[in-house]
Amino acid sequence: MARIGIFDSGVGGLTVQRAIIERLPGLDTVYLGDTARVPYGSRSPEVVTQYSLRNARVLVAQGIDLLVVACNTASAVALPALREALSIPVLGVVEPGAREAARASRSGRIGVIGTQSTVASGAYQAALRALRPEAQVTARACPLFVPLAEEGWTDPEDEVVRLVARRYLGPLAAARVDTLVLGCTHYPLLREAIAAALPGVALVDSAQAIAAEVATRFGEAAGGRATHRFFVTDVPGRFAQLAGRFLGQPVASAEQIDL
Ligand code: DGL
Repeated sequence: MARIGIFDSGVGGLTVQRAIIERLPGLDTVYLGDTARVPYGSRSPEVVTQYSLRNARVLVAQGIDLLVVACNTASAVALPALREALSIPVLGVVEPGAREAARASRSGRIGVIGTQSTVASGAYQAALRALRPEAQVTARACPLFVPLAEEGWTDPEDEVVRLVARRYLGPLAAARVDTLVLGCTHYPLLREAIAAALPGVALVDSAQAIAAEVATRFGEAAGGRATHRFFVTDVPGRFAQLAGRFLGQPVASAEQIDL
């Protein structure tokens, strides 16, 4: 049975793992959350690349057949280095998310939201323009969405959530985007609040997009008794507490490792 390695800066990548498990329930997965070094979204590309290479080595030692970089920030800045260093296939979330957005947009006015580093890297913007050269891409960093999602403040009726969403997404509404890429692991939890701030805009979840890509490589596995292991780099307490909401099922145990 194929085994997929998935890494993220912390708990957020569980949204990607969730999409993969839902789509391919027969695949074994090994998840690594670099909880001792989160967040990646405000760090330099050099440091994120260094952390990503370390994460990848731990997962490769677990005998994985494919590496999924669930973290949008790491996907945006570290993919070439990972592909060069590893002999197994490496998939990032940027390309599948961009492809789906390029397909979904009618007008070519496409929005991208992500961390500061993801937006500054220009990776989504470049991928979208490569697919649709006429696209007008508006990208915006929304760093406060990450703590809101972790705090569980995701209700679109909540006034704090509504205000933050309106403030961040106002420029995207003004740019009249018809499609928006949720370019960060945490944003699927805020999907309803984002949709409420941008009515009528198609939301592209890069977690769903990469799950579809994994499915094309391994076929739609019908089911079976897959195993899922979890590693973290800080003590597992907070990870275990938050994991259920991000993964959609409780995480029985996470093992702490040193990189
Ligand atoms: N996982 C990160 C991402 O998708 C968000 C959290 C962080 O900044 O590390 O970009």
